[in-house]
Amino acid sequence: MVEELQYKEGKLFFSDVDLSKVKTPKFVFSKKQLQLTYTRVKEKFDSVFSKNKMYYSLKTNDFPFVIETMKELDSNFVIASVNEAKLVLKHGISPSKCLVNQPLYTEQDIIDYFELGFDFFAVGNEKFLGYIQKHAKKEICYLADIDLIAKEHTFSFSKDALPKLSKKFPKAKLIGLAFYVKTQNTDVFVWQSYIDKAIKIIEELKTKGIEIEFVNIGSGFPVEYNKSGLDGFLVIDRIKNTLAMLKDYSVILEPGRLIVASCVVLVAEVMLVKGNDVWINTSIYNSYLDTQIAKVKLPAISVKEQTKTKEYNVFGNSPCTLDVYFKDKPMGQVEEGDKIAFFNAGAYIFTTNFASNEEVSFDERSLGKN
Ligand SMILES: Cc1ncc(COP(=O)(O)O)c(C=O)c1O
Repeated sequence: MVEELQYKEGKLFFSDVDLSKVKTPKFVFSKKQLQLTYTRVKEKFDSVFSKNKMYYSLKTNDFPFVIETMKELDSNFVIASVNEAKLVLKHGISPSKCLVNQPLYTEQDIIDYFELGFDFFAVGNEKFLGYIQKHAKKEICYLADIDLIAKEHTFSFSKDALPKLSKKFPKAKLIGLAFYVKTQNTDVFVWQSYIDKAIKIIEELKTKGIEIEFVNIGSGFPVEYNKSGLDGFLVIDRIKNTLAMLKDYSVILEPGRLIVASCVVLVAEVMLVKGNDVWINTSIYNSYLDTQIAKVKLPAISVKEQTKTKEYNVFGNSPCTLDVYFKDKPMGQVEEGDKIAFFNAGAYIFTTNFASNEEVSFDERSLGKN
């Protein structure tokens, strides 16, 4: 649902920005949409978990206007690098609002985090606990990133490693378990299997005198991309009974996509139409590389309100046959010179300057600048 994307007298607006007037190609940001979605996500998790703490996954979108809005909303942040730690500090966000969850740490990373004031970590390997033990000046609480489904490339803790850790690393206090299922995860059984296994491990740890308070289930809640029917809120409803199994624990959530996807649209102009094929004045490489990386097909609508829709194939303007936004998806009828708006474009905005074309930037007006 993108509440702020609405036709007014036949023209498409994103909050107060008239998309027909945007110089294309541009991203357009809506602060109001971000506020609305953040609140909706938070309320949803509050309705499912009596005890929970939500941390916004900063890597999903770290543009300054997003960070500032999240700060105003009093959000917590999960950060994945020392540079992200420095970024949140630059915005005046306290380290106490942050969980550091980085897959691999160097010794210098740990030294830097301590110097910057960060003291809550998710850690997946003994080697990194060794750095904490060596450099911590006080007890440090951490979540153990665990390998629940023997994955091919995991260095995370196996359950049998956990009971020995407190003796080996007395400065590091294990207070929770952490896992991340997968991006765009809609599979009820996958959720069930992970949560079942996590609870069994927690019960086993209890028999060994280790009390687990937090379970970090990460995220992977999907966003509806091009009529896929995969909406994170519906998925949460579908897995409600599974999530209820965590009622005895404080649940940590790290949503990214679900919070920020809807606050950005990408506006482009139609350069050429041939039957059902449409070419626009940017490419997936210069605007939204996640189309290729995560196979995300951004939904699009015509900026001019249309009563008739047609199934289109939309291609970018780069010299590459893989430059495809989507195929066979409905959109209001367009002609050359019309504009189209791709919505749910706010998560993982990776751009390149492929073919020496410009990386698409943000419409200044939508950022509150004129
Ligand atoms: C550990 C962790 N937390 C949070 C996220 C954010 O996930 P999503 O964008 O699916 O909400 C990711 C994404 O890869 C992740 O790896």
